[in-house]
Amino acid sequence: MEGLGLALSYDDVRLRTGHSKIAPADVDLTTKFSRNITLKCPLASAPMDTVTTHHMAIELAKLGGIGIIHRGFSPSQQAHEVARVKFYLNGLIEKPICVNENETMENIKRRQEEKGYSFHSFPVVNGNGILVGLLTNNDFEFCIDQSAFAKKVMSKELVIAKKGTTINEAFQIMQKSKKKVLPLVDSQKKLAGMYVFSDVKRIVSGGSSNYNLDKNGQLRVGAAVGVGSEALERIEMLTGRGVDVIVVDTAHGDSQPALEILKQAKKQFPALDIVVGNISEPESAKRLALAGADGIKVGQGPGSICTTRIVAGIGCPQLTAVYNCSKAVRGSGIPVCADGGIRYSGDISIAIGAGADSVMLGNLLAGTKEAPGEMVIIQGVPYKNYRGMGSLGAMQESKAARERYRQPDGAKNKLVPEGVEGAVPYKGEVAEIIYQLLGGLRSGMGYVGAANIKELQDKADFYRISGGGLDESHPHNITITKEPPNYR
Ligand code: XMP
Repeated sequence: MEGLGLALSYDDVRLRTGHSKIAPADVDLTTKFSRNITLKCPLASAPMDTVTTHHMAIELAKLGGIGIIHRGFSPSQQAHEVARVKFYLNGLIEKPICVNENETMENIKRRQEEKGYSFHSFPVVNGNGILVGLLTNNDFEFCIDQSAFAKKVMSKELVIAKKGTTINEAFQIMQKSKKKVLPLVDSQKKLAGMYVFSDVKRIVSGGSSNYNLDKNGQLRVGAAVGVGSEALERIEMLTGRGVDVIVVDTAHGDSQPALEILKQAKKQFPALDIVVGNISEPESAKRLALAGADGIKVGQGPGSICTTRIVAGIGCPQLTAVYNCSKAVRGSGIPVCADGGIRYSGDISIAIGAGADSVMLGNLLAGTKEAPGEMVIIQGVPYKNYRGMGSLGAMQESKAARERYRQPDGAKNKLVPEGVEGAVPYKGEVAEIIYQLLGGLRSGMGYVGAANIKELQDKADFYRISGGGLDESHPHNITITKEPPNYR
């Protein structure tokens, strides 16, 4: 108990302003979520069943961030969710999903439904992989006899291009020929790739310049897993659908099972980035770094729906946790994500100033159009449900939630919750929320004089403020009659 330190939360400090040569509009928000996964803005969505399914992940990646698909799904459903994000947008599709000329239309449709393909253009190949035709949306719509073979229904008049055709060349060819799909073939006429016009146009015209894309021009997405051998099976399925990063999502990231799964996953999937959380102590950060983590998630109890600190009596206030953990891994190339407790855009500036590379949001994204769940009206006001993954409801419904709080075998009437269930006001489209959050961050960086995320981390200096200082910081002595979009 001697030498007890002081631990602070976001509300305890404000950033000091500095001489600035940078306008908010000109700051660069590029950062990293994990060792090899870059972001165009430092935002990730929480893997919670009231926050992130493919809808949120698609929108967030389009805005430059990354969504982490929650693990309340079965492994195959979660992989399906990942696929829906990956298939949303394609640059060059290196290995297009194709059909055999002797497959029936019925069979193809069943496969389409099972795998969750949202597209309707399939190259048709023969037994040797030679391209023989194309099934298009029209072919599906006009086909009456579902027992017909693909070779009877497919379009045979194709415009094709050689393997190696660039996206710009493809754009020219497709525009000229007015074809929506351009298959590529090698010297033996074997299928070697495919372009889809809507995506190519978006990429070439710069309409996707803010999108967070992988090397194939597809949106980036992450997925959460637990611990144990089931997690490895899950990772295998998720990688099969092109997941970009795995988040080992536990309430105690510095637990032996979490370290074990990290080591095994790195051994089995060395090319895949694995982020581990959650922790709040610098020694834990060092242990995870040593065990091979590609990213660390910090936050034990700061979340708006968390009761862990009250129920278990543990946890470090978030500002100090982020500062200590970031400092512990500084220079190692392992990014830190500050997870939970972000209430205003200013908290993002402060979290990054304290050393975080990105922040993870639950509450601020819950209640948006893209969050799962229906709108509910409470006393005439629209809300959406938001609940902790350690809440009684989430744990009763989902083994993954019980596992996160290390009660996998707990009888449903004997669970010890570490979170609450509730509702947050309906907030409209997530793009509007993110616009305000990033606007606030840009403004903060402008005040500090930081041109990019690294400069904000380096230049940030803080004032510890009093309760009086916090009161003064919020609007006071006024009844707000018009709520601004970034302050509730
Ligand atoms: P915010 O503040 O954005 O926090 O709502 C989201 C983060 O909270 C964590 N989380 C929980 N923590 N009990 C907890 O102690 C819970 O039931 C719970 N559910 C989510 C999680 O890290 C999330 O990203």
